[in-house]
Amino acid sequence: MKRIGMLTSGGDCQALNATMRGIAKGLYTIYGDDVEIVGFEDGYRGMIYADYHIMQPSDFSGILTIGGTMLGTSRTPFKYLDQPDENGLDKVASMVHTYKKLKLDALCVLGGNGSLKTANRLAQEGLNVIGLPKTIDNDTWGTDVTFGFQSAVEIAAKAIDDIHTTAASHGRVFIVEVMGHKVGWLTLHAGIAAGADIILIPEIPYDIDKVLKAIEERNKSGKRFSILAVAEGAVSREDAQLGKKELKKKKEKGPVYPSVAYELAAKIGERLGSEVRVTVPGHTQRGGAPCPYDRVLSTRLGAEAARLIEKGKFGVMVSVKNQEISNVPLEEIAGKLKYVDPKADIIREAKLVGICFGD
Ligand code: F6P
Repeated sequence: MKRIGMLTSGGDCQALNATMRGIAKGLYTIYGDDVEIVGFEDGYRGMIYADYHIMQPSDFSGILTIGGTMLGTSRTPFKYLDQPDENGLDKVASMVHTYKKLKLDALCVLGGNGSLKTANRLAQEGLNVIGLPKTIDNDTWGTDVTFGFQSAVEIAAKAIDDIHTTAASHGRVFIVEVMGHKVGWLTLHAGIAAGADIILIPEIPYDIDKVLKAIEERNKSGKRFSILAVAEGAVSREDAQLGKKELKKKKEKGPVYPSVAYELAAKIGERLGSEVRVTVPGHTQRGGAPCPYDRVLSTRLGAEAARLIEKGKFGVMVSVKNQEISNVPLEEIAGKLKYVDPKADIIREAKLVGICFGD
């Protein structure tokens, strides 16, 4: 009898259930009744505290289109992994103990960067681990795309689409703040898809004068409104020069804004005298059903994870390379982020159609 553990860790996204379904259906096809799947509750927390249940084949039916995660999730920050919990429990040792006690043959970790770093750590401890790249941020190193990303692009793009009519009616500047503190993939794709006029992402620090100029030029050419797609982590050129501490100090001195979009709105309003409004779709971007693209991707990645278990290939993350399903060693991706390259073709093309990046 094969025993396979499964957990979902970190911020959720739309196709977690679809991916677990892919793994499970693959395993049931390969092993028939000779496999048992152990689901850990709330990510690594479930492994640390042996909070799990044996899953049934029926658990994996009817979930392809359902967002969230049936196992629950939590954040177990990698940087605190080696700090004992409040009762002095060694988290890593405890996870290894749970794995061994349950006589698992493998563990599937559906997670983003931090979670995959922990997955790599567990692989180094000798566990048979397979990672599956989850995140709406699409910032996982070693894969062209993560599951959840396209679903979030659709939601963020819809938010920007829907702003157009009201922006046009009122002749306003609108800022739509898109998720992504460190990387701008989601903002970039949603912004292009929905025809944003200005896209600001963390990888391309913006010059406020360039942003204002782009809005003014639109006004001059008779366009009544402008729409900015702004990543949560968008940063001005000046702020990008500052270290973490200096930036914190600067922010403490100045007015306090709920987020970068509000700060930008204040700057634009002040300098141009325009009416500026902010829309934050927030966690709706991680919610609801996975889009068909993600359902296909998750099914493929999940099935591949099952195949790798059969082959006995561990210590890897299933991935997408040039539209093919592949895999990459966890140790190669752990601790790395996949940023948008400011020199990438997609940026050049977006600029060619007139999108301003504030640089
Ligand atoms: O899942 C990644 C992410 O969605 C980021 O884009 C976002 O900034 C963050 O999670 C929000 O996290 P939380 O759900 O903990 O507020």
